[in-house]
Parts: sequence; structure tokens; C-alpha cells
Amino acid sequence: MTMPSRQDLAQSGTLEELYGKLDKVGMGPGWNKPTPSLWAAPRKTLLPAHWSYERARGALDAAGRLINTALAERRNLILVNPAEGNSYGTTRTLVAAYQMIMPGEWARAHRHTPNALRLILDAEPGTYTEVDGVNIAMEPGDVLLTPNWSTHGHGNDSKACAYWLDFLDAPLVQLLEPMFFEHTEEEGHEAFEPAPAPPTTDSPFVFTLKDTLARLDAAPPDPHGPFGTQIELGAPALDTTALYMMRLAPQTRTANHRTTASNIFAVVRGSGATMIDGERFAWRRGDVMTAPAWRPHFHEAADDAILLRVTDEPVMKRLGFHRVEAQA
Ligand SMILES: [Fe+2]
Repeated sequence: MTMPSRQDLAQSGTLEELYGKLDKVGMGPGWNKPTPSLWAAPRKTLLPAHWSYERARGALDAAGRLINTALAERRNLILVNPAEGNSYGTTRTLVAAYQMIMPGEWARAHRHTPNALRLILDAEPGTYTEVDGVNIAMEPGDVLLTPNWSTHGHGNDSKACAYWLDFLDAPLVQLLEPMFFEHTEEEGHEAFEPAPAPPTTDSPFVFTLKDTLARLDAAPPDPHGPFGTQIELGAPALDTTALYMMRLAPQTRTANHRTTASNIFAVVRGSGATMIDGERFAWRRGDVMTAPAWRPHFHEAADDAILLRVTDEPVMKRLGFHRVEAQA
């Protein structure tokens, strides 16, 4: 079949004939699209969801028997948003995962363009992440950053399994396409070597729970606001991803709202429930909830609770797409 010429196209006698010829030259009539390309307001594509740390621990403990870090590199469980057709992201731009490393294990160092951070859930002293050659201690409630292209590996020199939550902007990087990844250690470097120097928390890549609690104590209380009493970790912590610690007052409902930003909430302490677009998700320490873009949501803590909020707000703000709307 030869490619229609300008004259062939110009002589089309009917729209159907023109459509057939347009198809051959790789063009589509904008007035006759099979699906609209613009719509009035954000669509509900990804779903509100909740994941249980208790269940994740069960699965990770099994994985600890069944797979080692030499085979897995990272022993993690990805929190896949349950929306039909989705196989990876927790939101459109972010992915969260539970990870576990056993005593005496080393998860070999690598680096990648996706920005990453982790919230430590359970770890004994001696668990650390090496970031660009510096060993940073991983203690429960701490948030540890590994920005774009920083080299990072994880070690556990303690006697207990260590559990944490990872968050990456990998779905955004997949969409925009600047994905690069490389190992910075050869295969076989999984054999554990004790840290040459004691792990430190004196690093710009870590926000300790101790500092977070001191800052929350000093922050102006806002129990009825959309975020409870909130502080930001970093400004923002990562180019694409902002992090906030929210303290919720017991038995107090935060303000219902929706935003074009994606939000993932991880429970640092306490218990309660989050209503996301009419669905109620009860939560406890270590659990994860997501409010995808434009889904109204609010929280209600049963006791003094702290949530880590991980959001793509910096992307939305930089691109001029950030909108927030209060809800009744
Ligand atoms: Fe990584």
C-alpha cells in the first residue's frame, strides 16, 4: 500500500475516505476522536486504599526464609494501588513499599534517578543505610532520604530484623522517562561487613523522630485544620516530593478537603481512621493509606497520633497544577 500523496488526500470525496487515508499517514481527525482528551475535572482513576503493617510483617517474615538479599537485592512488598490495570504505583506519581532486612544482611549499594525516602518502623541499633559513603543510623520514626543519583545500600548489624517503608517517585520518572539505574557494587557484595564507623544521625539526609517531636511540640496547634498540627521535613525534602509530619489530636476530625496532589499517609504512632471519598479506613502504627488526586479526605485519631504525609505537591506547585478545595 503506497502512502497517499497530497493530491490523493485533497481529492477525498467523503469523511470516511479521508479517515482511511489519514490513518495511512499517521494522523487522526481531532474532531472525531474515539475518546475525549480533555475533561471538566480530575477523573477518579486510582483508588483510595489502605495497607496493613501487621500483614506486611507476616509476609516479610516468610520472605526472610524464602529469599535472601543476594537474590532479591531488596526484600520489599510493593503497595500497588488496586485500580484496574495498575501494576505498580501507589499513586500516579509515587510508589510505597514495605522492606525488611535480616540481621547480618547487606542490601548492596546502587543508585537511580528516582528520589527515595524511607520511614523506619522497627529496627534495633546497628541498622543503617549508607548514603554516598556515610553510614546513617535507622531508628524507628526516623525519615531518611536518598535523593536522585545518591548511592545507597542497607546493612543490619543488630540481632533483630529491621522493617521500614520506602517511598519513591519512580512512577513519575517512568512517565517522564529520565530513568537511570546502576549498581555501584559488584554482584556478590551482599556478604555483610560490619560498618567501619558507628552509624550517625548527624546528616542532612535524616530527620530523626526526636527532632520531629520537638518541632511538633513547638508548632502552632491546628487540630481542626486539614493536616492537624503539621511540620514540614525539608523545604521540600526532595525535588519532587514533600514530607510532612502531622500530629492529630485524639477524637478530633481534621478538615475535609481535596487536592490535585497525590498523598500517601504512613502511621508513625497511634491509631484512628481516615475517610477517603466516602470510604473509611481504620489504621494503626505502620499502616499506609493513600488519597489519590482530587479525592476528599479527612482523619480522625483515636489517640495522640502522628502521620507522615508523602506528597507530590512540589511537582504540582512547580507546574502550576496545584489546587486545593475545602469540602463540607
Ligand atoms: Fe534504591
